[in-house]
Amino acid sequence: MQIHSLSESTSHRAELEATEQIFFESSSKKTFSGEEERLRFLQRYFGVYAEQDPDWFLIARGATNQVLGYLAGAPETRNEHFILNPYLEEFRQVMGHYPAHLHINFSPEARGLGLGSLLLVEFERRLKSHSIPGVHLVTGATERNVGFYNKNGYLEASRIRVGSTELVLLGKRL
Ligand SMILES: CC(C)(COP(=O)(O)OP(=O)(O)OC[C@H]1O[C@@H](n2cnc3c(N)ncnc32)[C@H](O)[C@@H]1OP(=O)(O)O)[C@@H](O)C(=O)NCCC(=O)NCCS
Repeated sequence: MQIHSLSESTSHRAELEATEQIFFESSSKKTFSGEEERLRFLQRYFGVYAEQDPDWFLIARGATNQVLGYLAGAPETRNEHFILNPYLEEFRQVMGHYPAHLHINFSPEARGLGLGSLLLVEFERRLKSHSIPGVHLVTGATERNVGFYNKNGYLEASRIRVGSTELVLLGKRL
């Protein structure tokens, strides 16, 4: 597997299209009230990272150069992330220990092969080289991916309820 950032990419547009497809494929939300809602959803979890943090938007390619997965990250959690996701306010205090955050998705046929762990390690390596002290992510408390993060050293630091969903913040010190 090869890994590079969007800012290092030589086929920026094609890679964005391929990763956008993986984003929608991986999302549990499948229906939208219209195009406006679909684009808002895309911007919130994907577009804001591609536009504002292309150095931290990592793309994983396979042996035949196909895009297998991506990690959309930010080296620090900034106001625009809180504006896009108001529920994050409840996590603000604990985030001080884990300023960076990420979203990661692989295409269905590339899951369960250890590739997501490799991409995570590369993201952490890049964060450490910039002296970023910690990283977090937020996911549903009952999601299968919690096991993936736990085995990679991301542990529950805080938990909130949003509507009927329990959300956990999983953090790792670097
Ligand atoms: C989560 C994900 C990035 C992990 O990458 P990966 O390369 O599959 O992970 P690894 O092979 O290193 O580790 C396997 C673990 O990943 C997780 N995983 C594997 N397939 C998964 C799937 N379809 N959905 C959710 N998590 C999955 C499980 O925790 C698995 O461990 P388990 O088999 O003991 O349950 C990837 O599986 C994926 O994209 N899943 C669907 C979308 C998702 O949940 N993204 C994270 C949003 S917060």
